[in-house]
Parts: sequence; C-alpha cells; structure tokens
Amino acid sequence: MNCCRPNPACINFCRLNGKLISGKGVIRNPQNGWEYEVLRILAQGGMSTTYLVYDRQNCKLAVLKAINAELALRSKAREMFEREARILKSLEHPAIPKYYDFFDTRERYFLVMEMVHGKNLDQIVSPVSPTQAIEWLLQTSSILDYLHKRNPPLIHRDIKPGNLILRYRNCQITLIDFGAVKEATTPPGTRIATPGYGAPEQQSGKPCTQSDFYSLGMTLIYLLTRRSPSQFHVASKYKFAGLEDAGIPKALVSLIATLTAFLPEDRPQSVAEVTNLLRETFEQVKVY
Ligand SMILES: Nc1ncnc2c1ncn2[C@@H]1O[C@H](COP(=O)(O)OP(=O)(O)O)[C@@H](O)[C@H]1O
Ligand SMILES: [Mg+2]
Repeated sequence: MNCCRPNPACINFCRLNGKLISGKGVIRNPQNGWEYEVLRILAQGGMSTTYLVYDRQNCKLAVLKAINAELALRSKAREMFEREARILKSLEHPAIPKYYDFFDTRERYFLVMEMVHGKNLDQIVSPVSPTQAIEWLLQTSSILDYLHKRNPPLIHRDIKPGNLILRYRNCQITLIDFGAVKEATTPPGTRIATPGYGAPEQQSGKPCTQSDFYSLGMTLIYLLTRRSPSQFHVASKYKFAGLEDAGIPKALVSLIATLTAFLPEDRPQSVAEVTNLLRETFEQVKVY
C-alpha cells in the first residue's frame, strides 16, 4: 500500500492520514475468509515464524505465529502447535495474550493472537535493581498461579526473559509463548527446555509445576546480571557459583539457590510459597 507522504520505515500507519502503509502480502483464513496483512517478521525460531500483522476484519494489529513449512509435515510438530492454540484459546487472563484465530492452509498452520505492545525482558540493556527484579517475578508468579491452578494444572515449561514482555500500557509483565506448555496429568514425554533456563527434570521429559520455579530462579540471575545463567552453573555440584561476586546480594543468592534446587521437592512447592519467599527477600533488599 502506498502513502501520500514519505514515512520512516519503522512505522506501519501514515503519520498524516493514519492509513496502513507497509503491507507485505496477505494471509487468508480459508475457513472464515478473515485476512491478515503481513507487516514484518517479529521473530524466527526453529519451530515457527512470528509476524506482526494487520487484522483487516477487526482493523487492528495482531501477532500471527506460523509453523515452519517443513515442520508442518511432521505430525508431532503439528500436534504441539495445535496444542499451543487450544491452550491459548482456553485461557483468560489480563497478562496472557488473547487468542483470536487458528487455521491451516494446505501446507501451513497459523495462530493469531493479541499484540502485546511492550519490551521483552531479554531486550533490557542493563542489570535491573533487586527490588525491580523481584517485582517482575511476583507478577510472573501471579500468572503461574493462574496456570498451575487450572484443572489439570498447566506447566509453562519455557519461562525465560524472552517470553516475558513488559507491557508499555500498564508496566506489568505479560507471559507469552505457550508452545511448550504441558498439562500436568499427561504422561512424561517430549524433552522440552530452553538450554540454561529449563529444570533438570525437563531433560528427562518429566516436568512438574516446580520446573517453572526453577526457570524463575534462572530468569532472576539473568535480570540481575544480564549474563546467561549457565555461566554461573557448576554442573558437577548441581548448583550456581560466583553470584555474589557478580554483585547479587546474599538474600537473593539464597533465594536463587532455593528456586533452583536440583530436586523439585527441595524447591518451593506452590506459587504461594514462591510469593512468600519473594516478599521476604524484597524486605531484606529494599534498602539497596
Ligand atoms: N502476543 C505477542 N505480542 C507481542 N510480541 C509477541 C507476541 N507473541 C510473540 N511475540 C514476539 O515474537 C517472539 C517469538 O514468539 P514466541 O511465541 O516466543 O515464539 P518462539 O516459540 O519462536 O519462541 C517473542 O519473543 C516476541 O518478541
Ligand atoms: Mg519464545
């Protein structure tokens, strides 16, 4: 679509007349006829590509996630993508993107959801203060509370800074990416975890709700140091070293140790326990 005046490449709507200016093709849902105009790629992962789109039906921006073509041929990948869509559709929480649409064309599958305007926590350039990090973890825990209390409980399995968006509108954390989510009652299976963030039991395909707490601990290390948590991991001792030398206050080092205990039974057992620990630690570090 052309515009009457030059606009910077980074914007999608004309500054003068408000019209959409940067279409790169249209993806159409053959089932209901809804059309999505592709504006740009937001991210490209091993499993899927995520686009910013303009939803012509509802006249608003949205996010469209498409399973990569070669993976769409594999039934396991298709099944996981369908599960992501089914679970997102079933969720209703202000800090989880709203589900809009799911469809397939002959060779690909597409999931459309609410666009969260904000910043991924992995894009924040410098380490954040202990109180800020705890505040964001408390908000994330409250979303986990909602997921873990579903029937059956839902384990997110991929809590990490890249899946947490600080929404501009209300400065609150939103949790995205339900591609790895698992219903706690289903049998052990696929090994899913982001290296450096996933709990040890996820490596053997046996995640539990406490696996999400482990990933919270890893996320905390990243937020406080802006370094990959694996840099501090001493695999032979199943623990982390050098956190105090990296400037993390003692109270937080001990919180991280509790959240990232090797055995799930040595971690907090519920979100309520995590929240209490976070609040206690907040009181100890708030003078920093
Ligand atoms: N609802 C959304 N709102 C805004 N940005 C999103 C949304 N969903 C995904 N993104 C962006 O796209 C990226 C990839 O999406 P994600 O669902 O995490 O896919 P992947 O499985 O490839 O990690 C995210 O890190 C984020 O930057
Ligand atoms: Mg992701």
